[in-house]
Amino acid sequence: MKHNNEKLPAEELHNQITFYLNGQQIQEVLAPGISTLDWLHKQKHLHGTKCSCNEGDCGACTVVIAFRHNETIAYEAINSCLYPAAKLHGKHIITIEALGDTKNLHPIQQSLLEHHGTQCGYCTPGFVMSMFALFATFTHPNKETILSALEGNLCRCTGYQSILDAAQEIAENFIPDQLVPQWCREIEKQLLEFEESAAMVVKPKNAVGLVNRYLTPENLKVLFDYFAMEPDALFIAGGTDLMVQMNINRKEYPVLIDLTGIPELNKLYQQADCLHIGASVTYNQLYTCDFVSQGYPELHKLISQIASQQIRNFGTLCGNIANASPIGDSLPLLMVLDANLRLQSELEIRHVPIRDFFVAYRQTALHKGEIIREVILAPTPQNAYVKCIKSAKRKSVDISAVITAMRLEQDSGTITNAIFALGGVASTPIISKTFTSLMENKKLTSIDVNQVCHAVADEFAPLSDVRGSSEYRHTLIRNHLDLYLKEFLEVPR
Ligand SMILES: Cc1cc2nc3c(=O)[nH]c(=O)nc-3n(C[C@H](O)[C@H](O)[C@H](O)COP(=O)(O)OP(=O)(O)OC[C@H]3O[C@@H](n4cnc5c(N)ncnc54)[C@H](O)[C@@H]3O)c2cc1C
Ligand code: FES
Ligand code: FES
Repeated sequence: MKHNNEKLPAEELHNQITFYLNGQQIQEVLAPGISTLDWLHKQKHLHGTKCSCNEGDCGACTVVIAFRHNETIAYEAINSCLYPAAKLHGKHIITIEALGDTKNLHPIQQSLLEHHGTQCGYCTPGFVMSMFALFATFTHPNKETILSALEGNLCRCTGYQSILDAAQEIAENFIPDQLVPQWCREIEKQLLEFEESAAMVVKPKNAVGLVNRYLTPENLKVLFDYFAMEPDALFIAGGTDLMVQMNINRKEYPVLIDLTGIPELNKLYQQADCLHIGASVTYNQLYTCDFVSQGYPELHKLISQIASQQIRNFGTLCGNIANASPIGDSLPLLMVLDANLRLQSELEIRHVPIRDFFVAYRQTALHKGEIIREVILAPTPQNAYVKCIKSAKRKSVDISAVITAMRLEQDSGTITNAIFALGGVASTPIISKTFTSLMENKKLTSIDVNQVCHAVADEFAPLSDVRGSSEYRHTLIRNHLDLYLKEFLEVPR
């Protein structure tokens, strides 16, 4: 197909985006790739939002974005250090400065004050904003929901109990309408009516920065037109991996093409019993989807163990797959679930089973200019045993040392399907050949758990690194297997 660059919008006309900041409309020419946190600090001189780690780990930079979702308005907490400001188009960003002031504290701030929930105070704005998103969304959330909303906020003075007490008091005594200010409600109408298509963000001549062009196509055709114009461009979904590379490793990405403004890629639906998960569907969308919690309970559970609420609000499953880290948490489970990837380029659509997708360390079967358009999950048979275990040093905001998933099916006491997939033990996520050969077509009564555990662990030679030694990883493989097999074999049949 021949491309005519003149068809693309003139840069000067499309170099600014429109959004709302603390109740005020903003039309701004942005530096492409600038994080929301840097924009708040450098352009708006709003320093209430703090920067500590600059890589999504601490939550000090948490702000809330309000945006249209399924004809309602969602309020979500995000890590502003990782959220490209170009994504703010059509959204409302709410920062600590607007919630209250020293004379008129917001009820959340008042509660923190009364429960002594703030000591050095550096983390406090982040906690307040996480709570604001929580209480704008849920009426009387329970303790588990409160903990999940706050898991991405660190307080180095360990004031957690006081902070939880403050949150508990708000949960018991307030409803969303008492906590979301009127000026937020007024902007909601404008967000619902917002129709302007996304703009492209282009670096002005001679300006410095790690990104020259941040392109935000509004449909797939424009996406592939942009790619034809910029064949070295990199796709960006949530940006939770890419922005860390920019912030910490100062990686330069001359051109980024954002997938999240394309309606075709934001689809999460069931068709012919299969679940389709589009490229820009976030972890949070997945977690709150009934098809996932009912049809794929292990995926539902695993999502709650990935990163933090702030990251799950904009990180994507497809980004996890495309990133192809050997410790990407979703990958072993998707392998045992037999996920199929629908890949799309300008000229073709093809399907690749996820088991064939990872070809070498961080290399995938994706061709240049091809995107993962969606992940397709077939239903798992009723009698299938599917489980996943993540071993990391902390429960939240931690990358796995080893992550494994297992699927077993049996018929009349004979194993008909046996798959054990692992992350963190080889250069790619991997399926154990030994496990399948030791288990398939075997009688349940003939399985020697101890022998299987040792034989499978011996198949791998994991590296030693900061997350664990090789021996520790071997032990984890054996222990995961032991847990799965004993649980599976103990079920009365
Ligand atoms: C603090 C923190 C904690 C984290 N914790 C975890 C964790 O517990 N477990 C875990 O597995 N990961 C974790 N991550 C990593 C990250 O959040 C996930 O890998 C996430 O799923 C990446 O998705 P994204 O949409 O943000 O990807 P992006 O950063 O947008 O993209 C990642 C890569 O995939 C490519 N890409 C994205 N989407 C597509 C697509 N549809 N087609 C083709 N290419 C595409 C991009 O070009 C890029 O190379 C964590 C990250 C942070 C910062
Ligand atoms: S500054 Fe730590 S998460 Fe953003
Ligand atoms: S009060 Fe949170 S880090 Fe000190």
